Amino acid sequence: MTKKFTPNFLSAEVLYKSIVSPLLSNDEGADAEKLTQLALNSLGQASIYRNWPGFSKALKLLSKELRIEDHRLEQRLFGCHFQNPLGLAAGFDKNGVAAGIWHHFGFGFAELGTVTWYAQKGNPKPRLFRLAEEQAALNRMGFNNNGAEIMKLTLERQKLKLVGQRPAIIGLNFGKSKIISLEQAPDDYASSIRLLAPLADYVVINVSSPNTPGLRDLQNTTQLRRLIERLRRLPGCPPLIVKIAPDLNNQEIDDLAKLAFEEGLAGIIAVNTSLNRLGLENRVITQTGLTLSQEAGGLSGAPLKQRAIEVIRRLRKAAGPELPLIGVGGIDSPKAAWDRISAGASLLQVYTGWIFKGPTLAPNILQGLLNQLEKNRLSHISEAVGSEIPWL
Ligand SMILES: Cc1cc2nc3c(=O)[nH]c(=O)nc-3n(C[C@H](O)[C@H](O)[C@H](O)COP(=O)(O)O)c2cc1C
Repeated sequence: MTKKFTPNFLSAEVLYKSIVSPLLSNDEGADAEKLTQLALNSLGQASIYRNWPGFSKALKLLSKELRIEDHRLEQRLFGCHFQNPLGLAAGFDKNGVAAGIWHHFGFGFAELGTVTWYAQKGNPKPRLFRLAEEQAALNRMGFNNNGAEIMKLTLERQKLKLVGQRPAIIGLNFGKSKIISLEQAPDDYASSIRLLAPLADYVVINVSSPNTPGLRDLQNTTQLRRLIERLRRLPGCPPLIVKIAPDLNNQEIDDLAKLAFEEGLAGIIAVNTSLNRLGLENRVITQTGLTLSQEAGGLSGAPLKQRAIEVIRRLRKAAGPELPLIGVGGIDSPKAAWDRISAGASLLQVYTGWIFKGPTLAPNILQGLLNQLEKNRLSHISEAVGSEIPWL
């Protein structure tokens, strides 16, 4: 007899499989975006109904498998208490559908978005390509999202705990609407942030996605200063963080570190996807038959690791130990996580590595960090930040 399955009840196995197996598909011919959407649909249901007996049992089992709790990994940064230093990077849960359950996957924080004031379809498909052999991805999504007002409803529907009382920190990542000029960008960001600020533990100003024409020009210090000064004036504005591109030169990185201090930023996230092809110029994309040099979009995953680490190191040197840095780009193993922390990152985020390695990456990384602390006789993760202690 086949087991009866009702949509309101998901066993841990079904929940896990419906999420993990689509994510783990390394088949380059598969529609990567569709697979992600499928996973998000299940997760969205699970988040809304997370307190129903079936879901709550399944999520508890997920937690048991994926969560690592240890006081040595807890940190208080820019007023937020992080249970552990590993977060989900922006771009996976663009509309915040699964905001209530990311901690069950072992994350200490999740960054939702990028959200824009106006709902956007994004660029024509296909626009997301997996490069399994290189553990990389190329995307030119173009801020496809439901817009700030729908995100607010989506988050409210999940009845999240209040800021300061959540099991995982929730960051909201904001971008400029495509139809808005650079001149009007500060007002566009301000509209979204004003609406969503009460729901965010921290807010990210995304000025580094390569797929919105002109957006990266906002990294220029004059423009960025104008933008930050506009946003800081918003009543009840949560800690403000800027996310930067890996393609900035050293002078630009130093200028941004200086500006972060002058403007009282809570931190910097480094890095977004790269417009450089990082040795993969001639790699052919299966679906289109074109090389990476011929395709538009930002590169993520393993090939970004080296540059991402250099940017963190440079920022740490320029900004000193006081400014919290969030390291992202090619983190796909405990060693990669440790190297980023020892170069200066207090927090880490994963996206592409998590897609390829699957959800066990989170506990593997956190356990790996704890092992390194022990090997180096350190009592807390903060002692490793910027220590330049090599992986043992
Ligand atoms: C498909 C895809 C969509 C992304 N969308 C966003 C986004 O909306 N906003 C953002 O700030 N970063 C976005 N990113 C960038 C990631 O947050 C991250 O900075 C980058 O991928 C490097 O990390 P990784 O190598 O672990 O993927 C996206 C990345 C991918 C692969």
